Amino acid sequence: MKAVILSGGFGTRLRPLTINTPKSMVPVLNIPFLEHVINHLKTHGVSEFSLAVSYLAQPIKNYFGDGSRFGISLTYTVEDSPMGTAGAVKNAGNSLNKRILVLNGDIFTDLDITDMIAAHKKNKAKATIALTPVEDPTSYGLVLTDNNLRVLRFLEKPNPDEITTNMINAGTYILEPEVMALVPPQTNYSFERELFPLLLKNGEPVYAYPSSSYWMDIGKPENYFQLHYDLLNGKSNQFRYNNGKRIVAGKRCNIHPTAKITGQVIIGNNCMIGEGARINGPSVIGTDCHISTDAVIDDSIIWASVYVEPQARIKHSIIADNCHIGSASNVEESVLGDKAIVTYGRNVKAGSLVSPGTIVY
Ligand code: GDD
Ligand code: MG
Repeated sequence: MKAVILSGGFGTRLRPLTINTPKSMVPVLNIPFLEHVINHLKTHGVSEFSLAVSYLAQPIKNYFGDGSRFGISLTYTVEDSPMGTAGAVKNAGNSLNKRILVLNGDIFTDLDITDMIAAHKKNKAKATIALTPVEDPTSYGLVLTDNNLRVLRFLEKPNPDEITTNMINAGTYILEPEVMALVPPQTNYSFERELFPLLLKNGEPVYAYPSSSYWMDIGKPENYFQLHYDLLNGKSNQFRYNNGKRIVAGKRCNIHPTAKITGQVIIGNNCMIGEGARINGPSVIGTDCHISTDAVIDDSIIWASVYVEPQARIKHSIIADNCHIGSASNVEESVLGDKAIVTYGRNVKAGSLVSPGTIVY
């Protein structure tokens, strides 16, 4: 079955990280998020993919190409401006004469796709929607079912007084071609707000596939952090931290013997960790980073080519590509867009969102 992955949103809630980097390319454990999604689907035998891209499409195309490097076949459909979730899939035209698998491109999950397909067939469903439990459904799509898991109601972004279940749309669908035929061509159209409610109104057999498998939407910085914590702590079966080994460092790293690395830490290729530097996990350091003498990195995610000068301190922060953190500066609970510069001795105060290229004096 072909998978269509929705990768064209603006990633608004992950700004400033997503101003120059599409949400799909945001690194997770030093590889683009979407690569994890593709790897998971490959384990369920999916080999044919279409990416519905729009905003910042080029970096995605440059990295994934025709998919051959990843052992898959990959095509792209590009929307000039986003056409909505269902509009984007409709736009992926050629896939619409067969059953398709549709995925939100910002979800990390261990969902058993093989079993979901079996359930879809058994139920003779026109559409099957994977469900996952969450604590607060207000930022998701609420899905109500009967005892046989037939969907009764789909309510996108419910108000607190409308919440009667903790099961939400997990962003993976199996759809029959007749369903996609209902989507008007070349129109902005949403699965969540338009197509699913329409199918239910028409009495079509729409089924739910609830799952307690690991699941995380990386749409917000807290969730992006949480995904790293969870992966480093073995909550997903897609990643095992190096069997109790103290650190996991990439190739050609130069780690000074006096550097102190504690907790779960992943270090990319070509990194330099200087004398007396401290890295406390859970933390991830991207490729080509330079962490200078006596710098401290605590509970943070550092992307590639970041230069941290001596005695700088970074705590619970996300630092995007090519940032420069000046000596004796202090960055706490903040998110720095790419190429941001923090000058000598400055304090980036907690809660800051620093735009790409900004110089913090
Ligand atoms: N190509 C394309 N075009 N992709 C789009 C468009 C579009 O117009 N709009 C959104 N996307 C992509 C986003 O990039 C993302 O991968 C996915 O579709 C979902 O969009 P989000 O903007 O992240 O939606 P959400 O997180 O608020 O809600 C959705 O996901 C929840 C689960 O995380 C909904 O599907 C909810 O019902 C669901 O519970
Ligand atoms: Mg999302």
